[in-house]
Amino acid sequence: MPPVVVPAALDEQRRLGADWAAWLDRLPGLAHGVLDDWALTPEGGSWHGFCSLVLPVTTATGAPAALKIGLPDQESEHEHLALQHWHGRGAARLLRADPGRRALLLERLDRTDLAEVWDVEACEVVAGLYADLHVAPLPQLRQQASYVEQWTAALRRDAREVPVPRRMVEQALALAEDLGAEPATAVIHADLHDGNVLRGRRDGEDVWLAIDPKPTNGDPHYELEPMLRNRFEEYAAPGAVGSVRDGIRRRFHTLVDVAGFDESRARDWVVVRSVLNAHWAHEDAVRAGRALDTAERDHVTACISVAKAVQD
Ligand SMILES: Nc1ncnc2c1ncn2[C@@H]1O[C@H](COP(=O)(O)OP(=O)(O)OP(=O)(O)O)[C@@H](O)[C@H]1O
Ligand SMILES: [Mg+2]
Repeated sequence: MPPVVVPAALDEQRRLGADWAAWLDRLPGLAHGVLDDWALTPEGGSWHGFCSLVLPVTTATGAPAALKIGLPDQESEHEHLALQHWHGRGAARLLRADPGRRALLLERLDRTDLAEVWDVEACEVVAGLYADLHVAPLPQLRQQASYVEQWTAALRRDAREVPVPRRMVEQALALAEDLGAEPATAVIHADLHDGNVLRGRRDGEDVWLAIDPKPTNGDPHYELEPMLRNRFEEYAAPGAVGSVRDGIRRRFHTLVDVAGFDESRARDWVVVRSVLNAHWAHEDAVRAGRALDTAERDHVTACISVAKAVQD
């Protein structure tokens, strides 16, 4: 078997720390071992996300599949449990998993993702997936509220430095406390953006299916925010209808209406997640010992715009 090559853009993540570097060093050997053990034939080429290597493979029975090997972080620890539980309804089918090696053998989907679809239609698709994905809580999963609690504690600590209006930070902290006190009602995907929804087939029909969950037990209303922040540049692109604010609100109302969600609860989660996201950019810059770079500044601006627009 030819050696597994880690794509350069994924290998660059070693700048993020010693744990990343150690994992990236092990990755070719790890992938080789799983290919061998599961009798998979790589088709050549490799794909990746922020924190995983994905290899197109053929199984021993000749079926096309995708082998995903992920960074062993806490948030992806239970990815296989949710995929297993969804059983191909609303998400890619899981064919096999080895949680110890963070290896997942997935049904191969098309590489076409939702980013190629008009943004409002993409919101309709994603909101349509919620019903399949938001099944009853699973006892093995962590509570989304426990993550939110950790993240808001860090935000509270940095409240004075974070480049977000102070009033908005205080609002997000208060809302997070209220929302976090509610019991979890469903399994949530927690990272449902356009790039994590791929084209596949069910019963001979083309359908959209989710990949890449960071599953927890939580509140379904948590899910919306990435769909508002993602593809932000399209709000002001030539041909966009109305202002950035109008564009954000159009996506928000599409998601809420199609999902049949409670508007104010959905809005509250968007505010909380937007401010937390802005804070993470601040933390990244602090960790690197520098001011926000251009991409981080744009990211923070987008987060603030989203949090404002849904409240107008
Ligand atoms: N089942 C699949 N079929 C086809 N392609 C896939 C499949 N799963 C993943 N991919 C491809 O690999 C890429 C990375 O996968 P995935 O999103 O699961 O990884 P990730 O590193 O967790 O991503 P992120 O950057 O969103 O954190 C996807 O964007 C897609 O192009
Ligand atoms: Mg992804």
